[in-house]
Order: sequence, then structure tokens, then C-alpha cells
Amino acid sequence: MAERRLLVLFGSQTGTAQDTAERIGREAKRQHLRCRVEALDSCDVMFWRFLFRKNLPAGSLCQLDYAVLGLGDSSYPKFNFVAKKLHKRLLQLGGNPLLPVALGDDQHDLG
Ligand SMILES: Cc1cc2nc3c(=O)[nH]c(=O)nc-3n(C[C@H](O)[C@H](O)[C@H](O)COP(=O)(O)O)c2cc1C
Repeated sequence: MAERRLLVLFGSQTGTAQDTAERIGREAKRQHLRCRVEALDSCDVMFWRFLFRKNLPAGSLCQLDYAVLGLGDSSYPKFNFVAKKLHKRLLQLGGNPLLPVALGDDQHDLG
């Protein structure tokens, strides 16, 4: 059977997304996935600028299975802006979403 691998990339300013990414990483390992957790800062040239290059063909990411989890706050006018933009772009490039985009909200009762 092919080895199941997961890469968890996070962007975090105050640590919430990093903690969440590390929790996902620990859970993935419990599920016997080979998993790496990395900060987006360590690969921003490869990732963000590359992804938004206008000349990328539509099917470029057809081999990619992905999920986007945004951690935002609905009191801001641009609620989860980056997560929505990223999800839309990955779809445009042919990525296969494992889940609908998930938009976490600090204003929710559960935080
Ligand atoms: C200065 C500041 C600006 C923020 N701007 C936004 C925003 O534009 N949209 C949004 O959805 N959340 C916004 N948030 C909420 C954060 O995205 C949210 O608290 C998140 O959980 C923080 O994750 P982090 O600890 O990994 O940086 C902002 C928070 C701060 C402190």
C-alpha cells in the first residue's frame, strides 16, 4: 500500500495557527500518516508567490489533495480573507479539496 503523507503548512502571528497545526500533526501521526508541520515563512517564495503567478496552467495542482483551515475573527471586515483566497486559488489550479474550506471564528462561543 502507498505510504500516506501529509504536509501541514501554517501561517501564524500570535501562535494559534501554529498550535493548531501541531495538534493536527500529532493526530496525523496517531493515524499512521507520515507528517511534517512547517511554517509558511520557511517556504513563502515557493508557496505564495508561485501559487499566484498568472501564467500557471489551470491543472497544475491536479495531483494535490488539500484542505484549508482559516483561523479568523468575524469582527474584522475581511473575515478569513487569506483562507478564502487560498482555497479559491487551489481549486482554480485543479487541487482536490478533501473538505469544504473551514473558517474558524474567534467570536464563536467555543472560541
Ligand atoms: C491585529 C490583528 C488583525 C487581525 N485581522 C484579521 C482579519 O483581517 N480577518 C480575520 O478574519 N481575522 C483577523 N484577526 C484575527 C486572527 O486571525 C485570529 O485571532 C487568529 O486566531 C490568530 O491566529 P495566530 O495566533 O496564529 O496569528 C486579526 C487579529 C489581530 C490581532
